[in-house]
Amino acid sequence: MSITHPSFGTIPGERVIIFDTTLRDGEQSPGFSMNLEEKLRMADALAELGADVLEAGFPIASPGDFDSVKSIADRFAKSGPVICGLSRSAPKDILRAAEAVKTAARPRIHTFISTSELHMRAKLRMTQEQVLEAVAASVTLARQHVADVEWSAEDGSRTEDDFLCRCVEAAIRAGATTINIPDTVGYAVPEDMARIFTMLRERVPGADTVIFSTHNHNDLGLAVANTLAAIQAGARQVECTINGIGERAGNASLEEVAMAIRTRQNALNKVTGINTSNILKTSRLLATITGFDVQPNKAIVGRNAFAHESGIHQDGMLKDRGTYEIMTPESVGWTNSSLVMGKHSGRAAFRDKLKALGYEVGDNQLNDAFARFKEIADRKKVVYDEDIVALVDDQILRTHDRIKLTALTVTAGLHTHPMATLKLEVDGEAHEGMAVGDGAVDATFNAIRAAFPHEVGLRLFAVQSVTGGTDAQARVTVRLEEGGKLVDGQGSDTDTIVASARAYIHALNKLLVKRERTAPAAMTA
Ligand code: KIV
Ligand code: ZN
Repeated sequence: MSITHPSFGTIPGERVIIFDTTLRDGEQSPGFSMNLEEKLRMADALAELGADVLEAGFPIASPGDFDSVKSIADRFAKSGPVICGLSRSAPKDILRAAEAVKTAARPRIHTFISTSELHMRAKLRMTQEQVLEAVAASVTLARQHVADVEWSAEDGSRTEDDFLCRCVEAAIRAGATTINIPDTVGYAVPEDMARIFTMLRERVPGADTVIFSTHNHNDLGLAVANTLAAIQAGARQVECTINGIGERAGNASLEEVAMAIRTRQNALNKVTGINTSNILKTSRLLATITGFDVQPNKAIVGRNAFAHESGIHQDGMLKDRGTYEIMTPESVGWTNSSLVMGKHSGRAAFRDKLKALGYEVGDNQLNDAFARFKEIADRKKVVYDEDIVALVDDQILRTHDRIKLTALTVTAGLHTHPMATLKLEVDGEAHEGMAVGDGAVDATFNAIRAAFPHEVGLRLFAVQSVTGGTDAQARVTVRLEEGGKLVDGQGSDTDTIVASARAYIHALNKLLVKRERTAPAAMTA
């Protein structure tokens, strides 16, 4: 059955709305925080991917959150996805969210309150009647600012049926246009979700005038299964994140939900607006920004998701791909040509390759990336797509860095004292540092501290290989902490020590951005 919605107009019955919360629920998980520039890059990628709604953040949470929601709203002031800001039910939260999203072409306020007996008693210390009043008041206030209001029953899947029906009815009467029932703690099984949506649609007056939405956490590994069960029971919006990131075990993964809907059209009879061939690129962008790769066997976007190892499977694949492949790798953005170019490849071929990998870069960025590619091609026998992705992502991450690594020499080995000498450019000014350390990486980090004195805690140092082989590029993640604030930096290079230095300096640059926002006076080292 089609439905009319203030942001989308008439929505045909088979269309599922994809509500992406990578920038809010996803970003909320430890180590996944992003700065403004990274959020804008992610927002652009999500819009290109075809997400219908971007939950851009929780504006009351901090000035930084407010700024990023507002900047994303400004970015999509003329057209683009619906831009949504989260708020609790307090008026000051709602007004802050309204202010943050107001410039978007299609703004949404998403307001929520807990409805389960446990949450109301232990967390809110509110009675049912007080919660019902808060539902009506919060939605009414939100509707005074935007036409598109979503209301969520936090811990909805553990809420008593009659009370959930009363809350949903109050939200609809007050003007909510989307009703979201989250499985906040990832406790539900698919039958629970199906039952709840069926029950609400049957019992609540006005249920046929709103979009029902499902939001599932993955504590039992059931987030995607619960999402699909909810769709089958009438949910028309799904809340999900790229790579399934999110609180604790994460949220339902956007790529899994979108591909399940597409691949099992015969079972679900639904469609989304997702450009599935952009999925891999978006997943990799998030991994680059956050420094967290997905596990190799992750559905759709893991390195092994389309790899066929056993002889029987390979034989079957050669005879007919359908024997072991339920969707093509190309349909989610994997390309066939893993071997790309060598040191003799020219700029035009490099630009074409970038285009095929989904990057549109300006002339200056192309020149810088091409110079880096030539350096890598000189050092590496073969350059794979993954190498190009790593170097371009590395390059883009560095565009606005105030601190840049310009030279690095390290001596290390058996029976020697590891020593590093390096040069940095800080706001255009040359700085030099020299230091010893317990190993080559330690000496390098000490030399960075000597060149640009600062006191931060090193909380994580992780190295991954971009491709196979001893000449593979290393991708390093460094997590730094200052005053309780965590930032992750990434760096890649065929030399692990250079990659480590780049990652440390990237994290340091992020800390400077954080300091600039909170205490502009503390901008010096
Ligand atoms: O999991 C949850 O309940 C949420 C709500 C704020 C929608 O993220
Ligand atoms: Zn959530």
